[in-house]
Amino acid sequence: MEAPHSPAPADAATLADTFGPAVNTAGLTLHSPEEMRELGRRLAKLLRPGDLVMLTGALGAGKTTLTRGLGEGLGVRGAVTSPTFVIARVHPPLGDGPPLVHVDAYRLGGGLDEMEDLDLDVSLPDSVIVVEWGEGKVEELSDDRLHLVIDRATGDAEHDHDDVRKVTLAGVGERWADADLAALAL
Ligand SMILES: Nc1ncnc2c1ncn2[C@@H]1O[C@H](COP(=O)(O)OP(=O)(O)O)[C@@H](O)[C@H]1O
Ligand SMILES: [Mg+2]
Repeated sequence: MEAPHSPAPADAATLADTFGPAVNTAGLTLHSPEEMRELGRRLAKLLRPGDLVMLTGALGAGKTTLTRGLGEGLGVRGAVTSPTFVIARVHPPLGDGPPLVHVDAYRLGGGLDEMEDLDLDVSLPDSVIVVEWGEGKVEELSDDRLHLVIDRATGDAEHDHDDVRKVTLAGVGERWADADLAALAL
């Protein structure tokens, strides 16, 4: 991983539009799936029960790869995979940490009805919940959320390699106000 990049002003404005002005943001560049996984392992050390992490990015961006690292960092049972038929999978802790609930909301309609069937509100206080494709669907679970927006790097001929990803982190709410998100690059 290299030094954190500051989110471009346009990105910051978009983030403020999307998440409201009270966001703590940082930008990181990852050069391989291994680095993305390592980011997940590092992020896991910041997480505690009750945390909601939302992953945004196109198919193949690396959301599940990052979640795999999170599972390793949290020390949970079971390999994190892209669920084909399962919407939410619970990975129980191997040690003292919280379970990881991994949600792929892709096939989930908007609205809380379907979400309520998953009982995520019941799980959240004791778990770390990571949601792929959760925008507009799971925000009501918590006022405090960490968003990770993953983009393929584009526009820079030198760095526009297929494996390069830019990750913008945006912490919403008190929980994330003082988190040192840029330190995840170290
Ligand atoms: N820097 C990178 N970070 C994450 N994945 C990468 C990266 N470079 C290449 N890849 C590849 O992109 C794919 C990402 O897949 P996946 O994590 O399932 O994405 P998503 O869950 O966002 O659809 C994997 O095949 C992975 O090996
Ligand atoms: Mg996925």
